[in-house]
Amino acid sequence: MMREAGKVVKLIFEELNSLIKPGISTKDIDDLVEKICKEKNVIAAEKGYSGYPASICTSVNDEVVHGIPSPKRILREGDIVSCDVVVDYKGYMADACRTFAVGKISDEAKRLNETAEKAFFEGIKFAKPGYRLRDIQRAIQETVEAEGFSVIRDFTGHGIGSKMHEDPMIPNYVTKSENPRLKPGMTLAIEPMITAGDYEIDILLDDWTAVTVDGSLASHYENTIVITNDEPEIITL
Ligand code: MF3
Ligand code: CO
Repeated sequence: MMREAGKVVKLIFEELNSLIKPGISTKDIDDLVEKICKEKNVIAAEKGYSGYPASICTSVNDEVVHGIPSPKRILREGDIVSCDVVVDYKGYMADACRTFAVGKISDEAKRLNETAEKAFFEGIKFAKPGYRLRDIQRAIQETVEAEGFSVIRDFTGHGIGSKMHEDPMIPNYVTKSENPRLKPGMTLAIEPMITAGDYEIDILLDDWTAVTVDGSLASHYENTIVITNDEPEIITL
């Protein structure tokens, strides 16, 4: 059922890839996600989660996560927008995020997006039996910092299943937190959230949108994976 949820997440990103252009609003993104979820008979699980008011999170430029879609937020050439979506199929979840370029973006923004994605793939090289959670965390942190970028401290990846957020927390940097051995059947959302500047964040007065304090650009790349006996299965890619 998580795989079925993952298929809809993939479809959503394909459609967003054609939709996202200068001139559209972040509400247009939310509308398309709602429409696809209705058609596919699944639930956009972010809506109502802890009171979250929309079907997807759209975070633009210095917004790190949890940006709320709005008809007033018009995307312009050069922006980057992360689209973070959770699909619920019969009570089971798949969670993923992509940061899209709006038209032509700066070389730095491109490198930031590439680094978030690369950090995910470097991290999941350790997503198999024989390793522990912290091996994933370390690989993500090292990949990001080698580019001179920072890893956000205040949000983490997580276990996922019949709930969007399950144990364990998966910080994108080395911590002294829980460090389980990785075992087949574990389902995890691995999600580097990174900035071109410092990792400090503020929350805006809407109580949701997290922005970088120094105004630097942020990028976010996420997939839901399954630990197997061998390479992990990525159900949202
Ligand atoms: N999808 C986010 C994550 O990657 C969580 C969004 S919180 C919500 O974990 F309230 F917007 F749902
Ligand atoms: Co997540």
